[in-house]
Amino acid sequence: MATILVTEEIADRGLEILRSAGHEVRVSLGLSPEELIAAVFDAHALIIRSATKVTKEVIQAAPSLIVVGRAGIGLDNVDVEAATAQGVMVVNAPQSNIISAAEHTMGLILALARHLPQAHASLTGGKWARSKFEGMELYGKVLGIVGLGRIGALVAQRALAFGMKLIAYDPYISQERARKMGVTLVSLDELVATADVVTIHLPKSKETMGLISREVLAKVKPGIRFVNAARGGIIDEEALYEAISDGRVAGCALDVFATEPPKDSPLLNLPNVVLTPHLGASTEEAQNKAGVTIAEQVQLALANEFVPFAVNVDASEASPEVKPYLPLAEALGRFHSSLVGGLPSELEIEYQGELAGEDTRLLTLSILKGIFSVGLNEPVSYVNAPALAAERGLEVREASSAHAQNYQNLVVLRSPEHVVGGTLAGAKGHDPRIVLVDSHWIELPPAKSMLAVRNLDRPGMIGLVGNALGEAGLSISSMAVSPKVDDGSALMLLTVSAPIPDSVLGAISAAEGIIYAKAVGCGQID
Ligand code: NAD
Ligand code: MLT
Repeated sequence: MATILVTEEIADRGLEILRSAGHEVRVSLGLSPEELIAAVFDAHALIIRSATKVTKEVIQAAPSLIVVGRAGIGLDNVDVEAATAQGVMVVNAPQSNIISAAEHTMGLILALARHLPQAHASLTGGKWARSKFEGMELYGKVLGIVGLGRIGALVAQRALAFGMKLIAYDPYISQERARKMGVTLVSLDELVATADVVTIHLPKSKETMGLISREVLAKVKPGIRFVNAARGGIIDEEALYEAISDGRVAGCALDVFATEPPKDSPLLNLPNVVLTPHLGASTEEAQNKAGVTIAEQVQLALANEFVPFAVNVDASEASPEVKPYLPLAEALGRFHSSLVGGLPSELEIEYQGELAGEDTRLLTLSILKGIFSVGLNEPVSYVNAPALAAERGLEVREASSAHAQNYQNLVVLRSPEHVVGGTLAGAKGHDPRIVLVDSHWIELPPAKSMLAVRNLDRPGMIGLVGNALGEAGLSISSMAVSPKVDDGSALMLLTVSAPIPDSVLGAISAAEGIIYAKAVGCGQID
């Protein structure tokens, strides 16, 4: 039987499931990082919530570790990459606390709009100050939802019942899905310029940290209010403090902070803020669901059975014919996503050539993994990728054809927005190549930082792009050009030394004869 280390409060019902299965459950709360490293040494499973940091060092200190179970949603406190590298499965409980978090958000919005904590403190302090606490009705006001995922969607439902008008910023949600929720998708700038209340429901990632920056806060509708029950640091706290102090922002309600507890935050001293100590998931119902779900998932992992909420399952199941195509498929998904700038409205995946006769299901999952990896930085796996597609309303169709155009095998991704195709080449036939972009045949290995430029076929276009990159200090490491096609356009695909700044893209896009210039990234290619 296994040894299970539990380092945070987990519902008794969950612990009971593991104990009655015969496992040794060791509950050690409040461990320092050093104590955790010592305690995890002989553990087969580690169960945590959001406070325990499961770093590479912790994983490396646990040679017997099979599974890390996160009783909740956010995985930003787990080094999933290090776990995967060591063959440790990571599981979470993605549905367990979403209702509690959405209800807490509504509580924060109402408390902020009606000054409830301030009024309570005033009354219990002996005052009866009715005129001091004039509030704002939610009815008819615009709610801007940043991140229209599981919790964002539940908040949308609830806010609709209050008669609020809904707008959202989420490039990974289709217009169609948003429309069905009664939400209009807008850009972040439009959202903050229009909304009366903004509520954040994003994962913590490189892209989302500091997303509500000083620059964004400079463009807000005067009197706007901000609510964050997602992750601390997504709103720049210093800049928010300044915006509230100078009256641009009317107030904020926060459940999460850049540092928890937020001892030195200047926000603590402002009168028009509502703050709670990361209570979004703190209900009996959510804790029971999270505890039971994580216990069930951990037990399945220990029994070596299929684990529905695993986030880092590997592709060892693929056949030898299909396996070499997995990195290409993921790269194509990423390429397509960055070309579209988010999620396509629908997607057809076509396998051409000998590949069409193979079991291509893992390739489709790899493509989805690539599509959802762009911008999300959330663990996307072969297991959760289809659920992500269904949740976000992305309809995926598969097609196959024994005849491949121009190559022996070809994988083509077609959406109303763009077409991208790829194959394997090189001496061993294992090197991924992007070979089709929109109607252009071209050939270049996928890379982390690329530039795709479609232009009218006229002299000087290559020079124009080269100069713009050179002036920005970027060097071109490889380049391919596809000549003019029927519509008179040509295409350049370049690999560049570093990510291309928006200002450079803007300058290229604005030049005469350019149809589009897009920074595309295929992630790390093995
Ligand atoms: P989710 O993955 O279902 O939804 C996140 C949404 O954000 C997705 O639709 C995604 O497309 C969107 N998104 C990702 N990157 C984006 C970007 N750069 N710009 C715009 N949109 C982007 O997640 P969820 O289950 O709704 O959880 C949302 C957050 O709430 C997470 O951070 C989670 O950890 C947190 N959470 C907090 C509590 C709490 O106690 N306060 C409880 C539960 C969850
Ligand atoms: C989560 O991501 O699930 C929340 O932060 C809640 C928690 O872990 O307590």
